[in-house]
Amino acid sequence: LMRWREMVAPEILMPAPMLPSVITALQDRFFLHCLWEQADPDAVLKLVGTRVRGLAVSTLAGRIDSDWLERLPALEIIANFGVGYDNVDAETAASRGIVVTNTPGVLDEEVADLTMGLLLATLRRIPQADRFVREGGWLSGKFPLSPTLRGRRIGILGLGAIGKAIARRLEAFGVPIAYHGRSRQRDVSYEYHATPTALAAVSDVLIAIVPGGPATKHLVDAEVLAALGPDGVLINVSRGSVVDEAALIQALQAGTILSAGIDVFEDEPRVPPALLQMPNVVLLPHIGSASHRTRAAMGQMVVDNLISWFDNGRAISPVAE
Ligand code: DGY
Repeated sequence: LMRWREMVAPEILMPAPMLPSVITALQDRFFLHCLWEQADPDAVLKLVGTRVRGLAVSTLAGRIDSDWLERLPALEIIANFGVGYDNVDAETAASRGIVVTNTPGVLDEEVADLTMGLLLATLRRIPQADRFVREGGWLSGKFPLSPTLRGRRIGILGLGAIGKAIARRLEAFGVPIAYHGRSRQRDVSYEYHATPTALAAVSDVLIAIVPGGPATKHLVDAEVLAALGPDGVLINVSRGSVVDEAALIQALQAGTILSAGIDVFEDEPRVPPALLQMPNVVLLPHIGSASHRTRAAMGQMVVDNLISWFDNGRAISPVAE
């Protein structure tokens, strides 16, 4: 026996688990298929795929590529949990008239906070100091002195909403700020540099906060790292694909840069073993936006986008593609 919802409510597919609050809200309003709960997801997909009109995804769902889109011919909207949507083939989606939405705005301050934490942790070697205390090192010696933020010039690679939120925080630390982005911005007084290499050359710390995807793949490469120099520190809070990880490992091993703070990796959740061995890196498990409050706000945007789309044909935050 079909419930009324199954007959009238749009069918939404969720390939991988999202926040319970998102699941509950979507179940309330739609006929939600929780694919990961199925014993045979492939069979379920074959059964319901042609009826699915909306997709709710996070990076946990893997890449939503043309294979996915072919299996969902009635798909109208992909609501992505995250401001970055390099996990979705947005170009193919657009060519099929499918709307892609993301979660801008609600996480800018959170990611900027985390960036400051990671920056200070990397420079002042806070995680290493914590390990030192736990392992009893303090009882037999002093923790080595660390580099500092003071007097360093910070280069921000990507001065979007999050980049600006980072810059505002850095102003309070009294450090000079430079940036590179797609274009020079009129409303800021930070020094502009036309290329990532030019920015790295004048920076002691380089903070990568550009969107992921093909356009920014390996924007931070061997040349940029060389320009950053032996006292240079790289902070990556954007996407793993933005940094050539092999080149980074080489630069850290050779000492052609000093250290790195990394929240995102090329093959998450796998982290190159070489990095795990290094004493001069701070490694985080992609937690830029990962607070209760911010994740709830992101989840609400996923829900709101789907409801708005099916109620009045307008998404709240469609990506520009
Ligand atoms: C984002 O919003 O893009 C965060 O990195 C979470 O994926």
